[in-house]
Amino acid sequence: MADIENGKLTTIAEKLLIGQFHRHVFLCIGETCCSSEVGLAAWDALKGELKDRNLSLATGPAACYRTKVGCLRICAGGPIMVVYPEGTWYAGMTADRIPRFVQEHLVNGKPIEEWIIARNPLPNDAPTNRS
Ligand code: FES
Repeated sequence: MADIENGKLTTIAEKLLIGQFHRHVFLCIGETCCSSEVGLAAWDALKGELKDRNLSLATGPAACYRTKVGCLRICAGGPIMVVYPEGTWYAGMTADRIPRFVQEHLVNGKPIEEWIIARNPLPNDAPTNRS
């Protein structure tokens, strides 16, 4: 890390529109909560749906950053997903559920109650690094 200037990293972050997003989706593709095939299929579906709808590199209230992770510590009933800042935890987020999730939760702002397993909203008045 020492040989990479912070300015270059800031430029990379700016190109990714970090600072513009209203939500961040973490999807577990770990092999304890689901098979790698099921997890990767869900990840591909999420990437594709966000791209097709112009939500992953966009601005506006539905702009959404996505990250695949190795474990969210539920380790059953996966793929497990968590959406911030609402802190909505979902189970069973297989590829076939992704289009409805994107439309109802990310676009319409209405989490899908029957798939939710937990809630942990974060404060929405936390300071940001945007000027
Ligand atoms: S492997 Fe997915 S929650 Fe642990």
